[in-house]
Amino acid sequence: MKKAIIIGATSGIGRGLAKILVENNYLVGITGRRTNLLEEIKSEKPDSYFIENFDISNAETVSFHLEKLVSMLGGLDILVLSSGTDNFNNSLNYEIEKLTIATNVNGFTAIADWSFNYFKSQQHGHLVAISSIAGLRGNRQSPAYTATKAYQIIYLESLRVKAKNSGLPIYITDVRPGFVDTAMAKSDILFWVAPVDKAAGQIYKAIGTKRKVVYVTKRWKMIGNLVKILPNWIIEKF
Ligand SMILES: NC(=O)c1ccc[n+]([C@@H]2O[C@H](COP(=O)([O-])OP(=O)(O)OC[C@H]3O[C@@H](n4cnc5c(N)ncnc54)[C@H](OP(=O)(O)O)[C@@H]3O)[C@@H](O)[C@H]2O)c1
Repeated sequence: MKKAIIIGATSGIGRGLAKILVENNYLVGITGRRTNLLEEIKSEKPDSYFIENFDISNAETVSFHLEKLVSMLGGLDILVLSSGTDNFNNSLNYEIEKLTIATNVNGFTAIADWSFNYFKSQQHGHLVAISSIAGLRGNRQSPAYTATKAYQIIYLESLRVKAKNSGLPIYITDVRPGFVDTAMAKSDILFWVAPVDKAAGQIYKAIGTKRKVVYVTKRWKMIGNLVKILPNWIIEKF
């Protein structure tokens, strides 16, 4: 049986993907801070889910929790990093930015590094991380969110270069959602909001084909390509 860990599986995209992996006979380690939700998911299929409750913003502790989870699963083939936070911060309060950075940069990096090193030592594996289309350009409402998502996109590209250079079958998939119908879908303008099941289904397929970069849902690729080339005067209107 294949083994996967989903970081941030208590709700939204991570939860949807965990369900699909279990339906496809994976053993799945699920994490998040809301223990009651982890237990609720496990109760749906107790033999398939393994739970570990931790806050990824405590970056120094993530390796301890991941090792515990891997020993419960008896190995690891795929790690999906879905945890993320977006805090609107029009007043540029540093205390708010700090929370976003602690999760989306510090926690993200600790988990990505641990995963890469684990896969390198066992000589195979697949790291999948949910970044965002928001990482392609800046905006005025949540500078730390857009900047941390840009960081994730470039970090994943760097890991992909390292993986290629190692000659090992280690795969890195960067999933860039547009809008998905979860608590994170916050914007003044919401459109093309995908149901969680549809987004998770497309991510599952992208994992199967070991895609390097995938926009979710598919039509967001068009928006992604467009925002990359928009002139600054248009970006400054938003
Ligand atoms: N929904 C969208 O429109 C959209 C668009 C672009 C990108 N994304 C990205 O998709 C990813 C998943 O978000 P979602 O849409 O599925 O939203 P969600 O339902 O709010 O899920 C976020 C998940 O992250 C976990 N999480 C947040 N902070 C954490 C922390 N400090 N430590 C551990 N876990 C933490 C949450 O678990 P606990 O609260 O239980 O800890 C939850 O499971 C995020 O990285 C987000 O940036 C979403």
